[in-house]
Amino acid sequence: MRTFPLAKRLQALPPYLFAAIDKAKEEVRAQGKDIISLGIGDPDLPTPEFIVEALCAAARKPEHHQYPSYIGMLAFRQAVADWYKTRFGVDLDPATEVMTLIGSKEGIAHFPLAFIDPGDLALVATPNYPVYPVTTAFVGGEVKYLPLTDENDFLPDLDSVSEAEWKRAKLIYVNYPNNPTAASAPRGFYEKLVAIAREYDVIVVHDAAYTEVYFDPADKPLSILEIPGAKDVAIEFHSLSKTYNMTGWRIGMAVGNPSLVAGLGKVKENVDSGLFQAIQEAGIAALQNGEPYAAKFREVYKERRDVMLKCLGDIGISCRVPKASLYIWAKVPHGQTSQEFVTKVLRQTGVVLTPGNGFGTPGEGYFRISLTVNTDRLKEAASRISSL
Ligand code: MLT
Repeated sequence: MRTFPLAKRLQALPPYLFAAIDKAKEEVRAQGKDIISLGIGDPDLPTPEFIVEALCAAARKPEHHQYPSYIGMLAFRQAVADWYKTRFGVDLDPATEVMTLIGSKEGIAHFPLAFIDPGDLALVATPNYPVYPVTTAFVGGEVKYLPLTDENDFLPDLDSVSEAEWKRAKLIYVNYPNNPTAASAPRGFYEKLVAIAREYDVIVVHDAAYTEVYFDPADKPLSILEIPGAKDVAIEFHSLSKTYNMTGWRIGMAVGNPSLVAGLGKVKENVDSGLFQAIQEAGIAALQNGEPYAAKFREVYKERRDVMLKCLGDIGISCRVPKASLYIWAKVPHGQTSQEFVTKVLRQTGVVLTPGNGFGTPGEGYFRISLTVNTDRLKEAASRISSL
């Protein structure tokens, strides 16, 4: 059998972080170890039943059995606009400022095709979701990383970018509540970002997938679109995945500046044929009636966060108290690299952690815990780690 060489753009690319973790996990499982997976941010609780029911009813409608609309059903886009108004006080025109996505990852991945030419500069706050720089590089873009560290409260230092770089930059990727550091961004950060982006004509790509997983009403995360003038420069990617436990459904949305939404739409028309409309109908149900469920899930994650923080404290592992997201970003015990630590933990205990360096160089020295197993399993995971 012939083996065909990969395109150059793939040759240097490491395996996708979560695929590599899955592979390592399966190897250890095959040795008979009981696996506790704190690796990927994939909610373990089921999608609320009323959303499943809405899908079942919608799946029976013949009009959904044909191609969906490219941009998404107007009714879903209207539900997104209504949800943004209620949740963030943001006005969106469903016709031009909202687009249905096959999960926010799909939209984020396609976005550079619409706005990055070879040689264009993209700024990426890092550690980061791997998709931002990888798909920028796919289209020939150049990446400048802005480190997120304890010292800068995991907010990119916008003043570290020179005037020449701001002039060259085509876009900047930010993500709050942040994956993987679990940091939140204050309003002042967004205000400064929007002001600079407007001054230098830079697109702001905000990945807001975790805004609904917060632990105190006083810490409710913002949409960047709440900042006056943001719609001039920003597109926000959001998702139903983490809010309503719908990762497997692949449903998300891009909202914001109409020219950015339209540019993404032009790419999508050429590469996909939209999202099954029955899923969009279920998405409408989720957006319209899901808030009491989202509130319950927040309570669950808060309890898990507190249990895990206590366990980590007891075994001398330090970390900040996250105000939002599904994650804890913790320091690797002294003297080990991130990879050494998570490999040892996986091989010896069956607990899957994500190595911080997998999200970029400033993640070295950290590991990420995903709070997507129940409290008994979290305690068990901590007890296994402490036995090392
Ligand atoms: C993560 O674990 O970082 C996320 O679940 C990945 C994703 O949302 O695609």
